[in-house]
Amino acid sequence: MAVTSKVYPRTGDTQTIYLKNVITNPYIEVGDYTIYNDFVNDPREFQKNNVLYHYPINRDKLMIGKFCSIACGAKFLFNSANHTMTSLSTYTFPLFFEEWGLEKQKVTEAWDNKGDIVIGNDVWIGFEAVILSGVTIGDGAIIGSRAVVTKDVPPYTIVGGVPARTIRRRFDEETIGKLLQMKWWDWPEAVIRKNISAIQSGRTEQLERTGEENWAL
Ligand SMILES: CC(C)(COP(=O)(O)OP(=O)(O)OC[C@H]1O[C@@H](n2cnc3c(N)ncnc32)[C@H](O)[C@@H]1OP(=O)(O)O)[C@@H](O)C(=O)NCCC(=O)NCCS
Repeated sequence: MAVTSKVYPRTGDTQTIYLKNVITNPYIEVGDYTIYNDFVNDPREFQKNNVLYHYPINRDKLMIGKFCSIACGAKFLFNSANHTMTSLSTYTFPLFFEEWGLEKQKVTEAWDNKGDIVIGNDVWIGFEAVILSGVTIGDGAIIGSRAVVTKDVPPYTIVGGVPARTIRRRFDEETIGKLLQMKWWDWPEAVIRKNISAIQSGRTEQLERTGEENWAL
């Protein structure tokens, strides 16, 4: 079954969108079914309001997996926010190249490049969380409201605070291992549909069993 191309998953709710279907920036990739909710701004303006300091000249990417839930005001701060600290001054002389007679093509020397932001699958990003450049967030992780995420977050780990620290793992190692192996988010939509109650049950045994049965069909 083709993945939906509609913007609004809920009838009458224009605050919640399938994010993938509003993205036009070639440096942003979003997986199927990932949701963004915004009750302050138009959620379709995500690229402008939530992906910040993200200039094409850096070619840095925001990659977000499938089935993520991104709450209102979550922000992704990219490399042009990082005034260089290898210089004796954090003043961005290279950005004001006309004023200071510098070369336009060296404008990127104004900031330190820390890399892409990569968000896994089934990640829940809380209200007004901030994710900094270079950070990778693993599958199934939860980012608490107003966290500032400065370092990578392992799969199925809950983090919170400024800077974000681990609060706890969501499941035991065995369960996390099984979930990462199963990758239910990559199953065909029809199989996921059949497994929704198993996913909701919180028990991987049921998911494995129904998953295997469905795969065998
Ligand atoms: C992170 C979160 C999922 C944790 O939920 P939880 O496991 O039920 O957390 P608890 O309330 O049991 O708190 C566990 C610990 O984490 C701390 N904590 C919880 N949320 C936190 C946050 N956002 N930032 C910093 N610390 C947080 C608690 O103070 C507590 O600390 P302690 O162990 O030192 O007492 C939740 O608090 C949260 O932030 N959810 C996001 C909500 C949101 O933004 N929703 C938007 C709509 S989609």
